Amino acid sequence: MKTIYFDYNATTAVDPAVREAMLPFLDEVYGNPSSIHQIGRRARAMLDDARERVATSWRCRASEVVFTSGGTESNNLAIFGTARHLRGKGRHLITSTIEHHSVLQCFQHLERNEGFNVTYLPVNSEGVVDPDDLAKSIRSDTILVSIMAANNETGSLQPIESIGETCRSKGVVFHTDAVQWFGKEPFERVQQFNADLVSFCAHKLHGPKGAGALFIKSPLHPEPIAFGGSHENERRAGTENLASIIGLAKTAELFLKPPVFPRDALMRLTDHLISAAGAIQGVEFRGSRSVRLANTASFTISGSDSITILAGLDMEGICASSGSACSAGSLEPSHVLLAMGVEPDLANSLVRFSLGRDSTLEDVDRVVEVLRGVRERATK
Ligand SMILES: Cc1ncc(COP(=O)(O)O)c(C=O)c1O
Repeated sequence: MKTIYFDYNATTAVDPAVREAMLPFLDEVYGNPSSIHQIGRRARAMLDDARERVATSWRCRASEVVFTSGGTESNNLAIFGTARHLRGKGRHLITSTIEHHSVLQCFQHLERNEGFNVTYLPVNSEGVVDPDDLAKSIRSDTILVSIMAANNETGSLQPIESIGETCRSKGVVFHTDAVQWFGKEPFERVQQFNADLVSFCAHKLHGPKGAGALFIKSPLHPEPIAFGGSHENERRAGTENLASIIGLAKTAELFLKPPVFPRDALMRLTDHLISAAGAIQGVEFRGSRSVRLANTASFTISGSDSITILAGLDMEGICASSGSACSAGSLEPSHVLLAMGVEPDLANSLVRFSLGRDSTLEDVDRVVEVLRGVRERATK
């Protein structure tokens, strides 16, 4: 049975060219970049070079690139670091109800434990934030806004440029989690988000896992969240994972411009998927048909739940995902769908298909055929 991988928003396979670039760093280039001897200096030179290469891809200064362990850490550093750095100026923060948990849980922690006040912006039924809502929510004590560039569950694209402009005009620091956006949408330079902080990770676009970066616009200097060394210009302590950093630099060079996810081809495939799957009784597309990542199409399945449907698909060799956190067989309804106004029962039945560069029309047709059967069996 052929395996069909429709879970590219969860992660992707490392590209052979990226793997090749990383190999020497798992072997002969083993030095610690902080060591002063020649073995360490060689590693340091490669680390500095990797930072320059990412800066060249992003068209920013090398000093504005901080390497992290991935999207989660980039988000944590951006949010905790900035909120704590600026707490003397104000204690009001703004984010949205559809953020990834690595953003939402930072805000919840700051609210519960550190005396901050958080506004969670709503979204419309297509999962998009209204920039006017943001403008109305900014107060004199607002210090940070964090809105994602593209949602991982529905693929909905957010009006980031205009949100960034509003924040700039009001003097508020703006962070965007662009983890799902990079490699999928047209990219020129990291400043195009109009953001002071931009989160990136490599494994969503054919780079290694555990490799991330945060763009921090100069001269902003968030407080570190890890202590124990002066690495990354006092912004992130810990011996650098050079092999992953080299992999991340290669990924940024190869796959941002043009995006490694072929947009037009993927839009044709997901448009077809949305029409064909949406024609199955009880299957409803969720998200925006037009303002979305081309690779992502999510559905609810009435009368069933995500785990049942995903298990049924998996038995037939199809890898898809729910947007929700599964633990010990229990399933939380998707917070993204709830925010879009979907009933809790239905929000429990999200099935996300996220396609990639190797996906084909035959794959889509097979997925639709299997989904029809799985849904029929599941709702009997
Ligand atoms: C939107 C978004 N932000 C952050 C993350 C976390 O990234 P990482 O897996 O690199 O920690 C993910 C990954 O699922 C994501 O989709």
